[in-house]
Amino acid sequence: MRKGMSAVAAGMILAFACTVFSNADTKADTKQAAPSEDVTEISEAASTTVETETEESTDDEPLAESGILVVYFSRTGEQYTVGEIEKGNTAIVAEMIGEEAGADLFEILPADDHYPMTYDELTDVAKQEQNEKARPEYSGEVPDLSAYSTIFIGAPVWWGDWPMIMYTFFEENEEELSGKTLIPFSTHEGSGLSGFDSKLSSACPDSTVLDGLAVRGNDAQNEQDSVRDSVNKWISELGY
Ligand SMILES: Cc1cc2nc3c(=O)[nH]c(=O)nc-3n(C[C@H](O)[C@H](O)[C@H](O)COP(=O)(O)O)c2cc1C
Repeated sequence: MRKGMSAVAAGMILAFACTVFSNADTKADTKQAAPSEDVTEISEAASTTVETETEESTDDEPLAESGILVVYFSRTGEQYTVGEIEKGNTAIVAEMIGEEAGADLFEILPADDHYPMTYDELTDVAKQEQNEKARPEYSGEVPDLSAYSTIFIGAPVWWGDWPMIMYTFFEENEEELSGKTLIPFSTHEGSGLSGFDSKLSSACPDSTVLDGLAVRGNDAQNEQDSVRDSVNKWISELGY
């Protein structure tokens, strides 16, 4: 733990420690088990960040053969227990999912990147956004969601919840997400999935939400073989 951590951050860590979670790879309730298979066209390989301007997507075909997309938010800089990181914990897991499921990736990036790169300051900004129920804007063009039948959606747990910017994504795309299979995943340092599944269901009531996966951020950085095994097992159990 860093020296000089603010009282607010210290309180948050206490909250992590007190959080009841069954184990690191917490499973959420399954609502439906069968992934949709209504995507038939193939146009692009898996595991590439979707770049709407440059990818070949001329006739509304899915970019990935699988019809699966991974949407995620993740931060670099100073993070809890892992220090300075060059690739975000959630980004690492998102890429593993992309590789295993043969999915495209779309990273949610803040439009005005007001998030500090130091942990203590970031916790303050995140708390303020949560208190205000802020809806920070993200940049970039969301890929054509009609091209995907299943969307994995992941983020770090921030103060026991999705980061507020994820709600911006859910609300702005609620119509496009309706009828889709959504699969949440989190990285965290003690709080597990933090109700990502039920919160996603509430935000997108016309979507089907499947079992989620929670991964320790520290493991995503430092135990990648075992995290990859967990990711692959989870995806396989979901039927993908
Ligand atoms: C603002 C903020 C709030 C956090 N809140 C929690 C929390 O409530 N529970 C928890 O287990 N971890 C919490 N963490 C730890 C992150 O969830 C964890 O480090 C995560 O893996 C970071 O992922 P990223 O590198 O993809 O951003 C918090 C971290 C930050 C920066």
